[in-house]
Amino acid sequence: MPNTMDTLQVKVWRSAGDGGFVTYPVPRHTSQTVLDVVTYIQRELEPDLGYRYACRVGMCGSCAMTVNGKARWTCRTHVSKVAADGRLEVAPLSNLPVIKDLVTDMSAFFDKWSQAKGTFEGAQTRHDDFARVPPASPQRQAVDAGIECIGCGVCYASCDVVTWRPDYLGPAALNRAWTLMNDERDVQGSERLRAVAGDAGCHSCHTLGSCTERCPKALAPTAGIAGLKRMAAKAAMKGEL
Ligand code: SF4
Ligand code: SF4
Ligand code: FES
Repeated sequence: MPNTMDTLQVKVWRSAGDGGFVTYPVPRHTSQTVLDVVTYIQRELEPDLGYRYACRVGMCGSCAMTVNGKARWTCRTHVSKVAADGRLEVAPLSNLPVIKDLVTDMSAFFDKWSQAKGTFEGAQTRHDDFARVPPASPQRQAVDAGIECIGCGVCYASCDVVTWRPDYLGPAALNRAWTLMNDERDVQGSERLRAVAGDAGCHSCHTLGSCTERCPKALAPTAGIAGLKRMAAKAAMKGEL
């Protein structure tokens, strides 16, 4: 098998049988992304390879995989940054069941958004005026570091508490809950706080911050989770939990 600076040796997780890595030689190109590499393998070498992507520009979050041991968006990860020595290992995201090869089942991830009451519920009707949230208000500013989440699962796959206790709601669902807890228009506050303050909720976070370090959108779930802990503590002291 060739092993020159013009060729990458790419180990890709294949799930058949007990699963294992298979190595493929892939020609190197300028500005090549990890998603380009996986696509080359599927189109030229292994038509049966399962993987997922949609936008290729860091908007949909569907291309997240484990690249050389870390969860990343493959479409926004340049090979030159992660595989300077020409070696690349691509595996499915951790903490989620594998459907096939590099494709994981995200059901548990999205179920937890739902368990954390991650959907907005307002009280306004179509006959009311638009509800405006002033950009300078403390509530709007409190959620600035959490509001642009695209649900890619990178933080979830990087969280070792999710690995230890699979019922932990995880950084993305808790981050979403935090943004809604600060939304004056939402009416599910107490219910949501009860949902995230349980055993599998915000208090299980050890605050080491892998989620914040890895989030490709530079969001800070750790800060949001700390905010939820403060809210839960205040509510408990007032006897509201
Ligand atoms: S918080 Fe960041 S890493 Fe986690 S799902 Fe949202 S965008 Fe992805
Ligand atoms: S800071 Fe909390 S949510 Fe983030 S990775 Fe660590 S345990 Fe998970
Ligand atoms: S393909 Fe959409 S974020 Fe990578």
